[in-house]
Parts: sequence; C-alpha cells; structure tokens
Amino acid sequence: MNMNKRIPVIAANWKMYKTKDEALAFIFQVNELVPARSKVESIICAPSILLNLLVKREGENIRIGAQNMHYMDEGAFTGENSPLQVKTAGAEYVLIGHSERRSYFNETDETVNKKLHAAIKHEITPILCIGEQLDERESGRTKAVLDHQLEIAFKDIHPADAAKVIIAYEPVWAIGTGKTATPEMANDTIKDVREKVKALYGAEVSEAVRILYGGSVKTDNIRSLLAQSDIDGALIGGASLDPNNFLEFTKAALEF
Ligand code: 13P
Repeated sequence: MNMNKRIPVIAANWKMYKTKDEALAFIFQVNELVPARSKVESIICAPSILLNLLVKREGENIRIGAQNMHYMDEGAFTGENSPLQVKTAGAEYVLIGHSERRSYFNETDETVNKKLHAAIKHEITPILCIGEQLDERESGRTKAVLDHQLEIAFKDIHPADAAKVIIAYEPVWAIGTGKTATPEMANDTIKDVREKVKALYGAEVSEAVRILYGGSVKTDNIRSLLAQSDIDGALIGGASLDPNNFLEFTKAALEF
C-alpha cells in the first residue's frame, strides 16, 4: 500500500444481508474499536432501509454508505432511492456500478456515469466498481474492458471531482466464489487502472485516487493484498458480515 498520501479504505458491502437487530449488534460491537478515521476510512455499505438506523448510532470513526441510488433527484421510479434520499438518511458514500447491479439490474456504463455525476453533485463519495468477467480475463481482454468502463464512467467528470472518487476493482469471477485474484495479479491490474486514470486526468489525480481490491477477501488474505504497492484497501462482501472480521480488516490496514 502506498501510504504517502492515500488513506486506506476498508469498506464492507453487506449486500442484502442483516435484519435491524443484526445491524445494530454489529455497529455497537465495532464502533469503539475501529482505528481512527485519520488512519483508516472504515465504511459500512448497508441496505438502504437500514442506513438511517446505522447513521444514528455510528461512532466517530465509522462511516455509512449506500449500495446503490438512482441518478435523478426525484421521479416516478418505484422502489428506487434518490441521491437526496441517500443524503437525508445520512449516508456519506455510495457504491456505484457493483457487478451484481450490472448483471441483475441492467446497469450499464452509461447509467454508472449518470450516477457518478449525481453522487458528485450531491457530495456523496462514490465507490465506483469495475471488473472483468472470467472469459474476458482468460482471453486477455481485462485491460481493454476496464479501460472502457473507466472511460465511460468518468465521462465529463471534472479532474478535481475525479480525485475524490474511490475505485473498487472487483474481478467478477472472484466475487463470492472463494477464488481470489493473487495479490500480484490484483496489484498489476490496479496499476493498469491507475495508469488509465493518469491518461484521463494526469499524474496528480492518479496518485491521489484510492483504488481498492474486492472479491473473496478474507482475514487470511487481506494482509498479502494490502502489502501490494498499489492496493489502497478492500471492498469486502461475505467476510465483512462478521464484526470480528471487519475489525481485523480495519486493523490490518494500519499495518502497511
Ligand atoms: P465477496 O467478498 O463476498 O466475494 O464479495 C465481494 C463484493 O462483491 C464486494 O462488493
């Protein structure tokens, strides 16, 4: 991890897990034990219906994020949440373009771009998710796929705003499968992502932007991932549902 300027990020993606009681038990357990915010950004991305409940109980060093939002401020979009509503709930981050949204809910690079604009407009920190499918990796198209996702996602985003975006590289074949990219493979791909950000915005932005790895991150592989030069943190699904694991991830981020 390059600790020169970039603060590491540990983000839990709870996906569609946890009841109210489970969410409360989790936050009460981790609130006082996560590292100082100045050292690690510890984020819980929770289902929308639990956001305000968590925000009301969040300790000084925990931050809450949504897992998705619409790009319109309001409208007849049954079942969706607007950026204003995410903000009203008190969430400070939002996942955008998670691969499950792309594959099950028809999100495209174009809607991802609109959501990125909306997040920036409403001062919600976006965690932009990108990643290649298994066949794309195997046929040597990973770089082209990620470059394309980044080009469209960042279309017409101002450089000063681009630097604030957190990028999560999540190879689709590694999500929920127990197959992690090797730390070297993840780092090489993340270096390519940083190169693309440099091509789009220049060296200053590419050095400032945090790039996370996601996909079957566990307590036994987090350290080898964070030890890499360009991996600034992790976006964690299944393993982050256990508060003890979440605490271990945040503490691991202090070690590099
Ligand atoms: P897993 O950690 O369960 O593989 O999920 C990764 C993910 O999708 C995080 O957004």
